[in-house]
Amino acid sequence: MNIVLIGYMGSGKSLVGRCLSETIGSEYLDLDDYIEAEEKKTIKNIFEEKGEVYFRKKEHFYLKKVLGAFENTVISLGGGTPCFSGNIEIINKLAEGRSIYLQTGVDELVERLFGEKNKRPLIAHLDTKEALQDFIRKHLFERSFYYNQAAYKIITDKKALNDIVAEIQAILK
Ligand code: S3P
Repeated sequence: MNIVLIGYMGSGKSLVGRCLSETIGSEYLDLDDYIEAEEKKTIKNIFEEKGEVYFRKKEHFYLKKVLGAFENTVISLGGGTPCFSGNIEIINKLAEGRSIYLQTGVDELVERLFGEKNKRPLIAHLDTKEALQDFIRKHLFERSFYYNQAAYKIITDKKALNDIVAEIQAILK
């Protein structure tokens, strides 16, 4: 069975996912990396050349593809994946109750994302920490409706990577 990690940009989905898969000895897949490999373009370039609507269509297509094709895999999704095209219902159905929301507070997200915002098309234009914080606060509020539909939620603030992984193992036992 697959384990699906969801959460806002910078919530640690990829880091936690990789560490969890190593700990439990399963495969690991990052949906953004998969899309980039299949489309032979970075997410940044897809947004720039084709726009967000096109990206969301591709994201929906590849989400269904990987959830159907992979087994015993830890899968990290993009921050927006659960929030479009009925994807959260698909995730919950195909991940058979093994979806986990990594919940991270706004202040910690700002600290993590400010230095690497240029890789992320939705926040690259925000020049100050204050602007980033305003954006994240509103965006996270809108997206929480979808994130909260995950089967489980783990608060990641101020927790070490190993502790987060141990918490996930404990809830999925
Ligand atoms: C997005 C998050 C990104 C990536 C794309 C859009 C979003 O993934 O899918 O830039 O809408 O939140 P990460 O959460 O891995 O940064």
